[in-house]
Amino acid sequence: MSSKRFRAYRVERTDQGQAVRRIQTLSTDDLPEGEVLVRVHYSSLNYKDALSATASKGVTRNYPHTPGIDCAGIVEESTSADWQAGDEVIVTSYDLGMDTDGGFAGYIRVPAKWVLRCPKALTLREAMICGTAGFTAAQCIQAIEARDARPERGKVLVTGASGGVGSMAVSLLSTQGYRVVAATGKRDAADWLRNLGAQEILPREALLDESARPLLEARWAAAVDTVGGNILATVLKTMRYGGAVACCGMVASSELHATVFPFILRAVSLLGVDSQSTPRALRERIWAKLAEICRPERLDAIATEITLDQVDEHLECLLKGEVRGRILLNLQAH
Ligand SMILES: NC(=O)c1ccc[n+]([C@@H]2O[C@H](COP(=O)([O-])OP(=O)(O)OC[C@H]3O[C@@H](n4cnc5c(N)ncnc54)[C@H](OP(=O)(O)O)[C@@H]3O)[C@@H](O)[C@H]2O)c1
Repeated sequence: MSSKRFRAYRVERTDQGQAVRRIQTLSTDDLPEGEVLVRVHYSSLNYKDALSATASKGVTRNYPHTPGIDCAGIVEESTSADWQAGDEVIVTSYDLGMDTDGGFAGYIRVPAKWVLRCPKALTLREAMICGTAGFTAAQCIQAIEARDARPERGKVLVTGASGGVGSMAVSLLSTQGYRVVAATGKRDAADWLRNLGAQEILPREALLDESARPLLEARWAAAVDTVGGNILATVLKTMRYGGAVACCGMVASSELHATVFPFILRAVSLLGVDSQSTPRALRERIWAKLAEICRPERLDAIATEITLDQVDEHLECLLKGEVRGRILLNLQAH
């Protein structure tokens, strides 16, 4: 097939390690090898994309590069028997947007095994409002439920509640009948979080314990933590007996200073969540669950839709922790 030209948000790294970002026109001949060429309809902005776009070590090693760990689109060409032109598909995580050119572009080319069918209950747009953030939130819920979390057991705390993973977790937990307490640093996000289903709002500072006490008042039956650091340490100290904490993020800090007392006196479980290396069969199950439990009207409330020309300013907001909900990138709009 003939090559096609498209716009992409590109990042270069200078010899001094600085990121230079601009929109460029590329050709499908510039894309990496792979069996499936997908015309991208939607992508979304995740914290990891902001790190990749700022040449942060640990996310992307090879520049120039196109970030975008999420993509939903339509197969244009495929040399794999599993995929035909016209299929509606999603590609999230794996190496997309890290060292493989990602979804902030008109096209991606990827290995066939990275491609999933878009769940029937979701449009491409809805799938990308969920994106890796929604997928990770669903994984966190699955993790705490595997430790017997149930609505009748008590309140579930979500930290970084107004962020991408946090807002999806608030929404999904509340539709599942949980009493959700949303911890946020944004004073003006309370009504918005209540609309997503939070029953109580907790200022972020309330979870920054500076005492040396190993345990505090037991409050939460389960928790989804997206921020790490002292907040995660405080969450552990405030879990009820048998409580489960799903830990997926580190926007506050990657360090955790804790004692063993929550684990050995309150039987608390700390559960690690990783979306990138989730095996394919499990991914399909989590996407199916996500499609079943997410509500379209809540997704609309969570999303801010932008175009490629607006990516830069929104990545800056992500890095400053200022984003509310999910940033949906429409690649078909100009
Ligand atoms: N494990 C995985 O597979 C996986 C998958 C996806 C994401 N993640 C990680 O999860 C984290 C959240 O990702 P995201 O895409 O949801 O990011 P995001 O949209 O930027 O949300 C992060 C939220 O954390 C809060 N926050 C920001 N700075 C903070 C600070 N210094 N201290 C405490 N809270 C702060 C803010 O919410 P409030 O203002 O409401 O507090 C912010 O909106 C990131 O670390 C990301 O890398 C991991």
